[in-house]
Amino acid sequence: MAHPLDEHGQLRSADPHGMMALTLDFPAQCKRAVELAGEWRLPNLPREPRLIVVSGMGGSGIGGDYLRALFEAHGSLPVLVVRDYHLPRCVDPHTLLFAVSYSGNTEETLSCYEQARARGAMRVAISSGGELQVRAQREGVPHLQVPVGQPPRTALGYLFLPMAVLCERWQLLPNLEQVLARTLQRLVQSRDRWGISVAYEQNHAKQLAAALHGKLPLLYGSGDYRAIVATRWKGQFNENAKQHAFANTFPELNHNEILGWVGAKRQAKNFAVVVLRDPDESIQIRTRVEVTRQLVGDAAEWHEAWAEGDSLLERLLMLTYLGDFVSLYLAYLNGVDPYAIDSIDRLKAELAKLASSE
Ligand code: PA5
Repeated sequence: MAHPLDEHGQLRSADPHGMMALTLDFPAQCKRAVELAGEWRLPNLPREPRLIVVSGMGGSGIGGDYLRALFEAHGSLPVLVVRDYHLPRCVDPHTLLFAVSYSGNTEETLSCYEQARARGAMRVAISSGGELQVRAQREGVPHLQVPVGQPPRTALGYLFLPMAVLCERWQLLPNLEQVLARTLQRLVQSRDRWGISVAYEQNHAKQLAAALHGKLPLLYGSGDYRAIVATRWKGQFNENAKQHAFANTFPELNHNEILGWVGAKRQAKNFAVVVLRDPDESIQIRTRVEVTRQLVGDAAEWHEAWAEGDSLLERLLMLTYLGDFVSLYLAYLNGVDPYAIDSIDRLKAELAKLASSE
């Protein structure tokens, strides 16, 4: 008998809005995103930036963390990601602000966009349309329009890579051409390993989803960029699979969360740990992961997912892509539509009512 995750007909009806198709398209999306940013009419920056701020929420904010990871490894500017209504006081005319909102209508991002104007910061807006585009066009602020019509969390290529390419074009990041070419190749290979048509027996993403089904996943990044990917996995598990998942990172979790495992058996029988790892982890991190595994003991199942690739970008996006597939397979096993985000929509509608009554 076929594994439930190999029942393609049934899975297609469980995914009426085609989230799997959008996920399978991710490598092609990344290619288009790079081309889009390469062809975009690059404005001159009037001043030397000293700080980059990315303002964005949810699926539009996480790309800011990916940009931060690139700058931490290859750039010389600090990158702050703001997921709130307010910009920090340090934002000034030497700040380059990317206001990123797939819909262009997210009120936290619009609020930061306005504050950046008041502070005289250099602004670039990225959206598929919406109020952000209207305001940017009205004010002559550079606006990069990404293709419309898909959930923001499936548009990570459009919402992250253009920022990296623009920073490269402004010479704030080193040349990315080769790294990008290898990353796109790696994503195609990953799709061919984890996509829906690859049978359960050969498909790590399906196997991991099946192992996590009915459990509370604790997603641990083994340090630096894996912390960001763990957060992305959490968001994808929440939004696609409609379930809780929690993310933390080494070494920080060894200074607090590790003690939670003392009471874990009392609290929940169904914890499962997934550690997102990198082959070049330091000996300290490796030791921390190993000792933590012993301390978790039989309180939870333990799984590991390893990044592959030569460059940071390759590893970052490849590990991200695995989580995207796992979250979709989990959605199928949970019997939920991965597309629907009714709770987020309701909150946005309530807040919009509040804004219009003010
Ligand atoms: O994935 C989602 O739909 C959300 O996390 C959105 O990205 C978030 O609500 C922000 O909306 P937008 O991306 O349109 O700015």
